[in-house]
Amino acid sequence: MTRKECVRRILGEFNAQPQHDSATAWAPANIALCKYWGKRNSELYLPQTSSLSVSLGDLGTQTTLSIASDCDMVVLNGHKVEPENAFARRLSAYLDLFRGDKPIFFHIDTANTVPTAAGLASSASGFAALVLALQSLYGWSLDGCHLSILARLGSGSACRSIYHGFVEWQAGIADDGFDSYAEPLPETWPDLRVGILTLSTAEKPIGSRQAMQHTLETSTLYRAWPQQVESDLPLLRRAIAERDLHLLGQTAENNALAMHATLLAARPAILYWLPESVQSIRTIHDLRKQGAAVYLTMDAGPNVKLLFEKNDVECIRERFPKVAIVSPFA
Ligand code: PMV
Repeated sequence: MTRKECVRRILGEFNAQPQHDSATAWAPANIALCKYWGKRNSELYLPQTSSLSVSLGDLGTQTTLSIASDCDMVVLNGHKVEPENAFARRLSAYLDLFRGDKPIFFHIDTANTVPTAAGLASSASGFAALVLALQSLYGWSLDGCHLSILARLGSGSACRSIYHGFVEWQAGIADDGFDSYAEPLPETWPDLRVGILTLSTAEKPIGSRQAMQHTLETSTLYRAWPQQVESDLPLLRRAIAERDLHLLGQTAENNALAMHATLLAARPAILYWLPESVQSIRTIHDLRKQGAAVYLTMDAGPNVKLLFEKNDVECIRERFPKVAIVSPFA
């Protein structure tokens, strides 16, 4: 099945023509506690394994989609993006899936409250916001499962950004990917905090899409990844159900470091870490030795995210004065 066939099957009898001139939607960024790392189908962005994330409260992407006259135009964070830019081409290619038979063009005005392409999952909130804006522009009434599948076709992790709170993406087994979508978990955790250490906002040397494919194809450690996920997911579910920060933090930290280990064992190796990343990891480990309950996770980039609870906010701010603190369940 192609992405276009998948979209056609989902949209079925829904409106093929926009019902409004313009629509705006917002979606949260998310940070995976158990990472999505490796695809089993690169056309449909079907993952090798399930994953579990927490959405980042008010950090995310707002997108306004309007009908344009003769070509697509992308505005990112207030600046016009050249059509040949990789970001604009990726958005246009995604919108091709929805254009139908008549030529139609879009003006896409999108703004992130997370640095674009700096390993803070802006593509996740970006594609989720775009799908929600499409739904409102065309007047569809798709359920969360179908919205999640459509977002997945833009960027795998975007399927989790359709929801707030804890979200689990079931890998599924079907070839057409209709059983591969995200669902929210019912639990909340009001005291949970996520700290974001933006150590670099530079464009990544290699994006997560290529990095995961390269890892899958060349890293001997990748063979161990599905087992890692199989043992981490039940631990995370239990940690969430029991609001056990130590279990949540230890599991998420180990999962992230194991993902980076698969990258280091790839040929050639991919090393996302900067000296500042290592320094932050050491500081977090020191804080733990001193009794603070703080853990870390990292995505495909040098930035470090902290996991802790409300009662440690002051101590975290003292050691990391530039940290941005998010309350996912505020
Ligand atoms: O959805 P993508 O292609 O940006 O991949 C996301 C990969 C990680 O951020 C490293 C892990 C995850 O589950 O979000």
